Amino acid sequence: MKPTVSNPGAGAPDVYPHGASAPGTGVLSAIGGTPLVRLERLFPDHPARFWAKLEMLNPGGSMKDRPAMQMLLDALRDGRLEPGGVVIESTSGNTGVGLAQACRALGLRFICVTDVKATATNRKLMRLYGAELIVVEAPHPETGEFLDARQARIDALLEAMPGALWAHQYVNPSNPRAHAEGTMTEIVEALGRDPDVMLTATGTCGTLGGAQQLCAERGASTRLVAVDARGSALFGDTPHKRLIPGMGSSRRAGFIDPEGVEVVHVTDQESVRGCRRLLRREAILGGGSCGAVVSAAERLRPTFGPRQDVVLLLADRGERYLDTVYDEGWVRTHIGSV
Ligand SMILES: Cc1ncc(COP(=O)(O)O)c(C=O)c1O
Repeated sequence: MKPTVSNPGAGAPDVYPHGASAPGTGVLSAIGGTPLVRLERLFPDHPARFWAKLEMLNPGGSMKDRPAMQMLLDALRDGRLEPGGVVIESTSGNTGVGLAQACRALGLRFICVTDVKATATNRKLMRLYGAELIVVEAPHPETGEFLDARQARIDALLEAMPGALWAHQYVNPSNPRAHAEGTMTEIVEALGRDPDVMLTATGTCGTLGGAQQLCAERGASTRLVAVDARGSALFGDTPHKRLIPGMGSSRRAGFIDPEGVEVVHVTDQESVRGCRRLLRREAILGGGSCGAVVSAAERLRPTFGPRQDVVLLLADRGERYLDTVYDEGWVRTHIGSV
C-alpha cells in the first residue's frame, strides 16, 4: 500500500531518503542529508580528524526525525497502519516532536503519552504540530516508575483503539534501520570511507544499533562508542537521577550487540562542560547529549591515532535547553560548579 501524504507533489521524484518510497515534496523530504563538518578547533593540534554530523539540522530539530518518519512509512507500507489512522507512543522528548511533525505531514492522528518530566517546550511543540497529549502525573503505584505508569496508559489506549499503531521505538526495527540506511550511510558517503571511530549518545540505541548494522554489512571495523549517562541502566550502571534528557534509560540496551561497542559513562556536569566547549570552540549550540559526546571524545582523545576519522554525532540543537544546560542559575542549583 502506498502511504498518502498531505502534499503529494505531482510527478515529484522519490525524494524520501533511506529507501522510504513515499512520493512527496513536503517537510519530510528535508529529513536526512545533514552535513558532516570538520571540527578543527575542538581539539587543536590533535593528529586525528574530528567531524560532526549535524543531526540538529533535521526539520523537527533532531536526529529522531529519521526513525519517526521511518516507523510511520514502514507501517503504512506494510498495512499495520491505515492512512488517516492513529499512532500512539510513550515519549517525552525528540521522538515525540518528530512523530508529531511526521503525523501532521502524513495526515495521521498522534496520541503521545508523556509525563510531568517532559519539558514545557516539548509539550508545546508537540501540541503545535497537532499531537494529543496524555500527561501522566504520578509514577506507577506499585513500582514507583513513570515508565510503568505510561505503559499502563498505552495498554489501555491500545485496548480501546483497535487498529492504532504503537510506534514502540525501543523495539521497532524501523528505528535502527533509519540510521543504518540514513545517518551512517551518509557518514560513509561523505567521508568516502568508513569512519575509524563513531561516538553517539544512547537512549533507545537505535542510532548505535543502525551504525552497527551497517558496519556489519560492510565488514567495517569502525570503533563504535556508546556515550551513556552516569546513572543509566542501559549498560548496567547503577540507576540514579539523571538531568540531561535524551540519553540514558531505566532499561537495558536493545538493538545492539554490546560486545561490539565501547561504553563511556558521562556525568551531567561533564555534559554541560562539553556543551560549553563545543559552543566556545566551534560556535555550535548543541543539546545536552552533544556535550556528553564531546566530553567522551575528550576522554578518549589519547586513544585516537593520526589521521583517523573520528565522527561525533550531534543529536539536537541547544535552543531547547536555554533554561537548563545554558542557564547559569539552573546549572549552579542542579549540577553545581562546572
Ligand atoms: C538528544 C538525544 N540524544 C541522544 C538520543 C539517543 O538516541 P537513540 O535513541 O537512537 O539511542 C536521543 C534519543 O531520543 C536524544 O533525543
